[in-house]
Amino acid sequence: EETLIVDCDTGIDDALALLYLLGDPDVEIGAVTTVFGNTDADTAALNTLRVLELAGRPDIPVAVGARSNWRGGSHLASYVHGDDGLGNTNLPAPTAAPSSEPAAELIVRLARQNPGTVHLLAVGPLTNLATALLLEPELPRLVKHVTIMGGALRHPGNVTPAAEANIHNDPEAARIVLQAGWPVTLVPLDATMTEVITEDHQRRLAATGSPVATFTASILDQYFDFYESTVFGERKAACHDPLAAAIAVGDVEPLLAPVVAVDVDTEDGPGRGATVADLRGQYRNFPPQEGATVRVVLETDRTFPELLVDRLCSAAPA
Ligand code: BDR
Ligand code: CA
Repeated sequence: EETLIVDCDTGIDDALALLYLLGDPDVEIGAVTTVFGNTDADTAALNTLRVLELAGRPDIPVAVGARSNWRGGSHLASYVHGDDGLGNTNLPAPTAAPSSEPAAELIVRLARQNPGTVHLLAVGPLTNLATALLLEPELPRLVKHVTIMGGALRHPGNVTPAAEANIHNDPEAARIVLQAGWPVTLVPLDATMTEVITEDHQRRLAATGSPVATFTASILDQYFDFYESTVFGERKAACHDPLAAAIAVGDVEPLLAPVVAVDVDTEDGPGRGATVADLRGQYRNFPPQEGATVRVVLETDRTFPELLVDRLCSAAPA
């Protein structure tokens, strides 16, 4: 038995992750919480409600969380995800409203009410999770597992040479979360940058004609623009958040995923926001590491986009 709480900054790939999960009737999403990042936290909540309504699940509660990071700043990635956070598709306003309960309080309440069954899937900056840990120091013993999209271990960063966006947006929070001693699966750029959705996939989605497939095909345009001009030189993009979602629910089995200790560079310098994983933990005779509770996914088999698109294409027609 497992209930997911998805913490996200919806966001194009966040929306893909949500729709992927919503397409599996066996996955139970207890709530979605939002954080600043790809867009501001309030827009992320409205975008999440739009996505839930599109998938016919307006009943799932959505709670707004941190509007800024540990230092009170925020940096939004509208150049990646569009001014509305969803590829400038300007979907109509949702009918439901976000819950009045703040995200971190909701996380703590659900974890207390359902000890041992909550799985936190965090695919944005880690501010809400860190806040929840401060509110409830027993949280690491109350939740079942934490899966995080974030970090860059052997791969370059995507916002600075060293740092990935979710971690760089709030390194202090990331450090609290990654060092809390709870069982974490970290899905960094090392894996997500190799799971690439292409124009062929987009064409398949567009040809399907269902609301979910049509919507996902259209939000990919903005994402492809960004990846074409800054990364691949072709119309294709990395499946960051959906890959983490698929790993969280056991649909994708990592090929290489050592369990190690992970720290975060919080200094003001070129390394700020870098994830420092003790990959020496892979050596056969390396002494056991203090705090080695983070399973870092270094490799997957690169077939996930097929699975994602199959799922999105089979979503119920309107
Ligand atoms: C991560 O940053 C966000 O832009 C994406 O949604 C993903 O969670 C990738 O670095
Ligand atoms: Ca995200």
